[in-house]
Amino acid sequence: MGKDVIIACDFASGAKTLEFLERFGAKKPFVKIGMELFYAEGPSIVEKIKNRGHKIFLDLKLHDIPNTVKKSMSVLSGLNVDMTNLHAAGGSKMMSAAVEGLTKPDGTRPILIAVTQLTSTDSETLKNELLIETTMAETVMRYAENAKNSGLDGVVCSPLEAQAVHKRCGNSFLTVTPGVRFADGDIGDQKRVMTPAEAKKAGSDYIVVGRPITAADDPVAAYERCVAEFVD
Ligand code: C5P
Repeated sequence: MGKDVIIACDFASGAKTLEFLERFGAKKPFVKIGMELFYAEGPSIVEKIKNRGHKIFLDLKLHDIPNTVKKSMSVLSGLNVDMTNLHAAGGSKMMSAAVEGLTKPDGTRPILIAVTQLTSTDSETLKNELLIETTMAETVMRYAENAKNSGLDGVVCSPLEAQAVHKRCGNSFLTVTPGVRFADGDIGDQKRVMTPAEAKKAGSDYIVVGRPITAADDPVAAYERCVAEFVD
């Protein structure tokens, strides 16, 4: 599995997303579709983008009882997405059920990755609300190991955690990393960021880049800059 740049298409409507993707012409970037767009437009937005030749990371972060997740993953697999995800907090049984549900009759399946702890969860919340006494760093690593042992392909994490995840779970266990900014760009609401070139050095397998591309004056040039720094 090669390194790639995934554009987070955090637009409110399908029309805006398709208009944005038009600008890329014959280039067909890997696209992340999140809950907002999926809930607004339904599965047809996945089909439309897929039919235009893009790979799709469907970021719906499933978390429910194993049977429900298995059946839901089977539906998502039928949409022909290339990558999807769930919350490792749902436990190993849920994750194994997800792998089963996602696997097609021919044995192939989309890449399945786990969210460990959301970056919006801080150490205080972990301790006082989730009642987890283990440190955040160790919790993230243990969840990554659970995901690996359940048959998943990788985790979403900060590029700053990519090396540690690879050390713990092996180099073929994928790290899909948001929180990427150009050296001369706006950080916005992201706190701990790396440039695409730094993320490459850190061993990220995929970078997820939203506003540095979607809000750029020239999104295609910004995307190409990411590819030049991260992939080439
Ligand atoms: O615009 P920006 O590059 O910050 O977008 C990053 C994308 O990655 C957004 O869709 C955001 O929801 C997602 N993401 C993140 N941090 C995580 C998990 C997902 O920024 N820990």
